[in-house]
Amino acid sequence: MNKNIECKRLDFTIGDVNEIYEGPVGQLWEELMGEEIHVGGEKETDILARKAGIKRTSCVLDVCSALGGPARHLARKYECKVTGLDATEKMVNEAVSRTERDGLSHLINFRLGNALDMPFHAGTFDTVWGQDAWCYITDKERLIREANRVLKTGGVIAFTDWIQNGKMADKECEELNTFMAFPYMETLDGYEEILRQKDFVIIEKEDLSKDFARHCHLYQNGLRNGKEKIISNYGKELYLAADEGLNKWVVAADKGKVGRGRLIGKKM
Ligand SMILES: C[S@@+](CC[C@H](N)C(=O)[O-])C[C@H]1O[C@@H](n2cnc3c(N)ncnc32)[C@H](O)[C@@H]1O
Repeated sequence: MNKNIECKRLDFTIGDVNEIYEGPVGQLWEELMGEEIHVGGEKETDILARKAGIKRTSCVLDVCSALGGPARHLARKYECKVTGLDATEKMVNEAVSRTERDGLSHLINFRLGNALDMPFHAGTFDTVWGQDAWCYITDKERLIREANRVLKTGGVIAFTDWIQNGKMADKECEELNTFMAFPYMETLDGYEEILRQKDFVIIEKEDLSKDFARHCHLYQNGLRNGKEKIISNYGKELYLAADEGLNKWVVAADKGKVGRGRLIGKKM
């Protein structure tokens, strides 16, 4: 993390993440973003797959796999094997049942577990994959070290994540991260530095922040256009909190203070 723009780290735990994704907030995120709970849906999954070199023989680990939407898309389209790892039981159960429903269980399995202590042997996977979720992880260095451990030599780490771009007042940063329950966000340069430290060669590093801002507006419109239905499903309190929090993200994204990045690295 760039020391000049670093924000205070917040004390969110895996228990806080579980509470979100076991409950109505997790459901609301699916309503706004779709079954692939990341910016850009299937289209973005295909871009990442192309850049990661996913093919039929690939053995992919999706770290923070949530409902398993990307895992099913990858298995269906590229016929690769995917393991999904997620720390929230409801997400894992839902991912398993949707995968059975789609007849893809022969290619995909899901494990309940923490990305900071991956329940896999060293050198298991060709690709470690992540989409817009590692912002929840309390220790990005340890996460990338674990990714390196479970990858085969020559394997690829490919991920997108929500990032911090610019300097923010402590209060602004704290409000944004608190709304999402992020302990902190990395910067794009910060991720590059961690990857290099953990013996990855950088293949690609892209700032996707303009597109991120556009998507923040889309989610805000989705929330506001669906106001009545959302209030009747989740209650007014949740709607108002979501609207207030999302608006802060829209403003910060428009100012270029927060965004999204894509990184591809190779384990040497
Ligand atoms: C935004 S969703 C992920 C979306 C998913 N990557 C996709 O594209 O559909 C965040 C997920 O990260 C999981 N998560 C957060 N911290 C985790 C950790 N330390 N270990 C494993 N899973 C974690 C949550 O349980 C949740 O399901």
